[in-house]
Amino acid sequence: MVRKLGVKANSGSIFTTLLVVVVTLLAVSAENEGDKIVQSKEEFVWTLDHTNFSDIISHHKMIVVEFYAPWCGYCQQLKPKYEQAASVLNSHDPLVILAKMDTTIPENAALARNYTLNGVPNIRIFRNGGKTVHEYKGTRETEGIIAYLTKHAGPASLEIKSKEDAANLIDGKKIVVAGIFPELSLEKIQNFTALAEDLRVDYDIVHTLDAKLLPRGGLVHKPSIRLFKPFDELYADFDDFQLEAMQNFIGETSVPIMAFLDDNPENQQFVNHFLHSP
Ligand SMILES: *[C@@H]1O[C@H](CO)[C@@H](O)[C@H](O)[C@H]1NC(C)=O
Ligand SMILES: *[C@@H]1O[C@H](CO)[C@@H](O)[C@H](O)[C@H]1NC(C)=O
Ligand SMILES: *[C@@H]1O[C@H](CO)[C@@H](O)[C@H](O)[C@H]1NC(C)=O
Repeated sequence: MVRKLGVKANSGSIFTTLLVVVVTLLAVSAENEGDKIVQSKEEFVWTLDHTNFSDIISHHKMIVVEFYAPWCGYCQQLKPKYEQAASVLNSHDPLVILAKMDTTIPENAALARNYTLNGVPNIRIFRNGGKTVHEYKGTRETEGIIAYLTKHAGPASLEIKSKEDAANLIDGKKIVVAGIFPELSLEKIQNFTALAEDLRVDYDIVHTLDAKLLPRGGLVHKPSIRLFKPFDELYADFDDFQLEAMQNFIGETSVPIMAFLDDNPENQQFVNHFLHSP
């Protein structure tokens, strides 16, 4: 009786041991599965839907969202490139989060309609908890996505501290908006910063304390804005720091008298300007 019980107990413990082994094996294989998922590129792109979209956007300084539809050919072409870019940008400092939302789900589509009117794929850059939303205007190739988003994850305006900085940032091929601050005015700097945040997708923006470092134009004695352009008179100065006045100045001054609307990517900003003019 006692022996039998002992055997029973023994076989029970063998069974327990087996169970532990099986469970451990299962756990190991589950862990491997998990590893595979984490290592696959897909995992770097966050999946958003109507249940968490607003909450996640509101908690991030910058998050990039691709609105897509699984059936769309351009979305399928973009997918591996977007994922690869996400895997690189995931270790970028500051971290750049790439996300996606399937707009074939009606509740998701209702949210997406707030931002996209012209089909899928459509990429938007949400900043400051979603307070600013910009259209992504880079290429759809991995390297282009990385370069564009790296630039846009940095400061909206880059400081020029030397002639070398100036030569690198103002290359005579693009429009560059420069804030010049020979004296520090907090309000003007704040307005310039707001302008830079607003226009960063369309223009290269810089600032400096010393106008002597700039390639063209003379000294200024009060805070000013100098717009460098690759055409016409090559630069223009302005010193009204009201937001709307600055926007008008840049909008009007940056339209070339002779615009070359061809395929040259350097001209794309002029083309965009025309397309988005009322
Ligand atoms: C958002 O919610 C969906 C559905 O529950 C989920 O699959 C997804 O992982 C969530 N995204 C994030 C980033 O938490
Ligand atoms: C976006 O659309 C939803 C309806 O789906 C609405 O509840 C929400 O307020 C809208 N958000 C913005 C920022 O327009
Ligand atoms: C800053 O911008 C606001 C809004 O346009 C304007 O009211 C204010 O006068 C500007 N400040 C300066 C110093 O120009």
